[in-house]
Amino acid sequence: MPGLLLDTLNGKRGSRVPLWLMRQAGRYLPEYRALRAEKGGFLALAYDSEAACEITLQPIERFGFDGAILFSDILIVPHAIGQHLEFLAGEGPKLSPPLVDAALEGLTPDPSRYDAIYETVRLCRRRLPEGVTMLGFAGSPWTVATYMVAGEGSRDQHEARALAYRDPAKLDAILDRIVAETIDYLSGQIGAGAEAVQLFDSWAGSLAPDEFERLVIAPNAKIVAELRRRHPATPVIGFPKGSGEKLSAYARETGVQAVGVDETIDPVWAHRELPQGMPVQGNFDPLLLLSGSERLESRARFILEAFADRPHVFNLGHGIDRRTPIEHVERLIAVVRDFEGDGGGR
Ligand code: CP3
Repeated sequence: MPGLLLDTLNGKRGSRVPLWLMRQAGRYLPEYRALRAEKGGFLALAYDSEAACEITLQPIERFGFDGAILFSDILIVPHAIGQHLEFLAGEGPKLSPPLVDAALEGLTPDPSRYDAIYETVRLCRRRLPEGVTMLGFAGSPWTVATYMVAGEGSRDQHEARALAYRDPAKLDAILDRIVAETIDYLSGQIGAGAEAVQLFDSWAGSLAPDEFERLVIAPNAKIVAELRRRHPATPVIGFPKGSGEKLSAYARETGVQAVGVDETIDPVWAHRELPQGMPVQGNFDPLLLLSGSERLESRARFILEAFADRPHVFNLGHGIDRRTPIEHVERLIAVVRDFEGDGGGR
């Protein structure tokens, strides 16, 4: 049995709406915090396949989600390309040397970094209950490039956006490199057992329309075309966060099978503008899970109804916040499971 989530990504509407939550394997879970305290920092956990698999499965065991997202990070790719990577407490990730003043050619790649990630996927796939879909992922080239160029996170992706105008050839070379790397990396995840993959473009929203075409749509389209050639049966979900009205062009031009919709987008608009029958994923505001007010239920139902006439994977509009109470997650799941009165069968 392929599973409800996979069927939905393949364009079918099943007996109920499948759900998973971005960052569902993470710090809002006490069992994750306990393992992290025992084993050390985030990066060490991501490269420890046994631990990473255990973390990937934690939210499945607790909540019975329909999909398990690999516990890892979008910055594994720059690490394998040869930048030094560190997560500093309170400061976020640091990549060195930053490519704003260093050359890609000066880095020494280490593709063996991917091996532990593939092993995590293999372990998880073996241990997952039947019908639960194993999801792989990577960051999209633009989002990954913003960290590789600046060497850290920034409020408005200033360094990479400036480089796009100042030295377009250099930025294009960086993007091309990430495209090639991401194709092989996702292909490796699929080979290890990932049944669908998601491309996270967390900073797609910071670009002007022409740059959106060049830096978001074009590189993602290259990745999708090659993945479809190598793995025609594996759906790709594209998630260009913050893209607003440009989501429609993204959905039509990249070739992705399904699109993620963030919480700033009106689902009624998204249903009207996106290609008929295209599966969508989203778009509950993760911050509404913090308060757990009556709006939690009414908003979830509003989203379910807005997408009732197309394949829909219920999800958040961005990652779950680490302060989220477990009981609010349980309430959200109950609303989704009860929608259309089916109750689910799991
Ligand atoms: O749904 C998923 O789990 C998808 C995978 C994913 C993660 N991070 C997993 C993760 C994705 C797409 C990201 C994105 C990411 N990671 C960004 C881009 C911006 C964004 O928020 O989308 C950045 C800058 C990072 C780097 C990163 N990873 C930081 C700053 C941290 C927190 C630092 C720490 O020490 O914990 C991480 C950790 C991380 N990435 C976790 C997960 C599940 C674990 C901990 C958590 O719940 O925060």
